[in-house]
Amino acid sequence: MKSLYIHIPFCARKCLYCDFNSYENRELEDEYIKALLEEISTVSEYKFKTIFIGGGTPTILSIQNLELLLKSLEKFSPVEFSVECNPGTLTKDNLSIMKKYGVNRLSIGLQSTNDKILKSLGRIHNFNEFLDGYNMAREVGFDNINIDLMFAVPNQRFEDFKESLEIVTNLNPEHISAYSLIVEEGTPFYAMQEKGKLEVVDEDVEREMYDYLIDYLQSKGYKWYEISNFAKDKFECSHNKCYWKCEEYIGVGAGAHSYIDNKRFSNAYSVNNYIKYINLEESPIESEEIIDESSAIEEFMFLGLRLIDGISKLEFEKRFKKPIYSIYSDQINSLKDKGLIIEDGDKIMLSRKGVNLSNSVFVEFIN
Ligand SMILES: C[S@@+](CC[C@H](N)C(=O)[O-])C[C@H]1O[C@@H](n2cnc3c(N)ncnc32)[C@H](O)[C@@H]1O
Ligand code: SF4
Repeated sequence: MKSLYIHIPFCARKCLYCDFNSYENRELEDEYIKALLEEISTVSEYKFKTIFIGGGTPTILSIQNLELLLKSLEKFSPVEFSVECNPGTLTKDNLSIMKKYGVNRLSIGLQSTNDKILKSLGRIHNFNEFLDGYNMAREVGFDNINIDLMFAVPNQRFEDFKESLEIVTNLNPEHISAYSLIVEEGTPFYAMQEKGKLEVVDEDVEREMYDYLIDYLQSKGYKWYEISNFAKDKFECSHNKCYWKCEEYIGVGAGAHSYIDNKRFSNAYSVNNYIKYINLEESPIESEEIIDESSAIEEFMFLGLRLIDGISKLEFEKRFKKPIYSIYSDQINSLKDKGLIIEDGDKIMLSRKGVNLSNSVFVEFIN
């Protein structure tokens, strides 16, 4: 069984830090949904254990388009069915439609509970608007909700982040994702940084925030299961775990990636081109890469080590028909000596120190 990702490349307004494939211009929404349904019909022979509609902002779609999309997915009945939402776009109508068609997990981007910070991120909502949406989602019956937070964002003090964590955990969501800001090229934040006008958070403060996040959420009963992800018991995100465990998935929509039969495919990134290909009854796939054994091994290591429980040596051997030590003994021994990874029975995982230096651990497994 595979997983299905569906991309919605529209947002009410572009946030100042975001370089995702999403646009404020929604003129092509109807045509895009038509094309998307066409592409979804080409994967109807598959069974999907998880579906994730992401973006962009799936909840910006008109009720008609949202319903058309959800109807086209009804036949799959996945175990986990997530939709990403911007709190400024949640309504009783879109929440009820999602519930009606079997969506059973919402992922809501809050980022911060501080209105000043939300404004400086270019978010379309304030904290009270988020709260209205969150409460409405609970009233409609959603009992598996993720809240996205960001930290080390401009003008954010340590105290602000602590406050966000306290307020959010008091709401008791089942899952929390927390990402430190990445200043992506091409975004307004990047231009501001180039001009020296972005109040970046000091690296030491960022590390302190991250350390605090991990300890605080664990003390509140969340399991830390991936570098940036925390969940109550039984609420880890199965869809995202499929990426970290290098399982197969299919992505549909503009710019979506698939990983299937040892190949990675990417759809046309441009919304226009994506629609054009589908209308011409051509494949929207623009690039294809064969994942040979050595790339597959590297991915298994650096994606798997993102999971706090780490990777299984037995699983490695089962997949690649050779023991992990036949390939990585030098790297494993040296990283263990430096206290960056830990070996515990069948598992190899990042140590707490290794989590803070994760990128330097991951590169050790790449040739
Ligand atoms: C597709 S968005 C979530 C749904 C919706 N679009 C929203 O923003 O409310 C995915 C998440 O990625 C995170 N994110 C996006 N760009 C980021 C960046 N440059 N640095 C760190 N986190 C980022 C944010 O936490 C955001 O909620
Ligand atoms: S963070 Fe979310 S709402 Fe903001 S532009 Fe990116 S995808 Fe859209």
